[in-house]
Amino acid sequence: MTMLMRDGKGCGALAGMACAHGLGRPVASVGGAGSSVDVPFGVWLLVGVAGVVVVLALLSPVLLARVPRVWWTVWGYPVAVVRLRWTWHRLTDLQDLSVTRRPTLRVLGDVMVKGKAVRTVAPRAGVARRRPGGLVVRVRLHPGQVPEMYAPAAGAMAHAWRMHAVRVASLERGWVTLTATAWDPLSVPWVPRSVLPDRLLRAVVGRWEDGSVWVVDLRVSPHWLIVGATRSGKSTLMAALVAQWSKQHVALVGIDLKGGMELSLFESRLSALATTRAQAADLLGQVLEIALDRMALCRSLGARSIWELPDIGRPVPVIVLVDEVAELYLMAAGTDRTEKAEVGQVSTALLRLGQLGAALGVHLVVAGQRVGSDLGTGVTALRAQLAGRVCHRVTDKGTAEMALGDLDPEAVAAAQVISIEQAGVAVAFTDAGGWMRARSVLVTPEQARAVAQKYAARTPVLSGLGWAGQHTQEGQ
Ligand SMILES: Nc1ncnc2c1ncn2[C@@H]1O[C@H](COP(=O)(O)OP(=O)(O)O)[C@@H](O)[C@H]1O
Ligand SMILES: [Mg+2]
Repeated sequence: MTMLMRDGKGCGALAGMACAHGLGRPVASVGGAGSSVDVPFGVWLLVGVAGVVVVLALLSPVLLARVPRVWWTVWGYPVAVVRLRWTWHRLTDLQDLSVTRRPTLRVLGDVMVKGKAVRTVAPRAGVARRRPGGLVVRVRLHPGQVPEMYAPAAGAMAHAWRMHAVRVASLERGWVTLTATAWDPLSVPWVPRSVLPDRLLRAVVGRWEDGSVWVVDLRVSPHWLIVGATRSGKSTLMAALVAQWSKQHVALVGIDLKGGMELSLFESRLSALATTRAQAADLLGQVLEIALDRMALCRSLGARSIWELPDIGRPVPVIVLVDEVAELYLMAAGTDRTEKAEVGQVSTALLRLGQLGAALGVHLVVAGQRVGSDLGTGVTALRAQLAGRVCHRVTDKGTAEMALGDLDPEAVAAAQVISIEQAGVAVAFTDAGGWMRARSVLVTPEQARAVAQKYAARTPVLSGLGWAGQHTQEGQ
């Protein structure tokens, strides 16, 4: 059997391709010496495409292991699109998302019979657009459908298209957006390549599972609550926040009752650090005084917040960081009266800062394992003031509900399935209102210390914060 190019004059396979593009319509002859059969161009094209597909299929495991993004572009995405189109009608039928244009009720003699339609119309899916490591497709809702009807089908879609996960969101009336990810984008810690321009009180702390940058902005959510079990990533997230805010003109105040082990890394950049409850009560009292002074200042100038004051003379924002908040509230049986008074002081001051702070440039970032009413009524009231929420891995449903609210059972379920290996992964609310999984940047203790030292000179001296770092260490 021979193959030759009729007008190629000895050009090989590569030359054949060139012929196909530039030198007219190539036709090949297949057959013995005497008889030759013309093979049309379409067949060559098919053979070529099949060859490319076979090569890609063979290379696919290697590409996936070495260069997953390239694998996704050349193999994963096209295959997923084919699967999506292939399964769409059946899938939407089985998930009761297809509709019928004909009535499903018929009269048979004197009887009304209800049946299942044989011919159904699937919801119209748009073009599946590629994203790094995933795809997005918009689906037109049938009249009578709401986006919530698609959420239970997300698992079935992920299985049918062999994707890691499918998320359903409704960004426009009448449409749902399905976002499928090929692998868990949060499975590896991440360091941002390009940093967003600095804006006061804004910190880039990691990334969302859709690949976008996770930003905590105290001008949007003035107070934050970070919960999670031990070693779930709370302190690391706080370190990521502090590492960013250290560069800005803000005062950082720390309360770390676990001997200051976490926040002392940033000591050179902190305006104050309390490591005992007595110190914390003192410090919070002073911060509250500062806030009340600012309130008087705003009132005298007819401003409703420090942000309405002229740039010159505007007080510097103060961020109060509290690690392991339970230590502030826990009282062992037989606690003496002084300690009870301290707990009362701490509780009142934190609550008032939560209520008044946002307009006065005083912000709270509170981390803890549990922030429930078992710690006292003050904690529940404080929790209500901390609108920014981050929930890391939890060991019980109650904690996730405390952090995320019991309004969104899906978010609570997502927090409960974070595994122990996924330290730093959390469920949080986006600025758009929905929830998503995110992972913070891993900030090591060495990095934390180095950042604090680098920006130590930016530590503002707060009048009213009569504090000299270690001066009450003897109280421990
Ligand atoms: N975003 C992250 N990426 C990778 N590893 C992390 C991340 N956050 C935390 N870890 C790992 O988990 C460990 C415990 O984190 P940590 O923040 O101290 O937890 P917690 O304060 O909740 O007890 C860290 O030492 C680190 O190894
Ligand atoms: Mg910690």
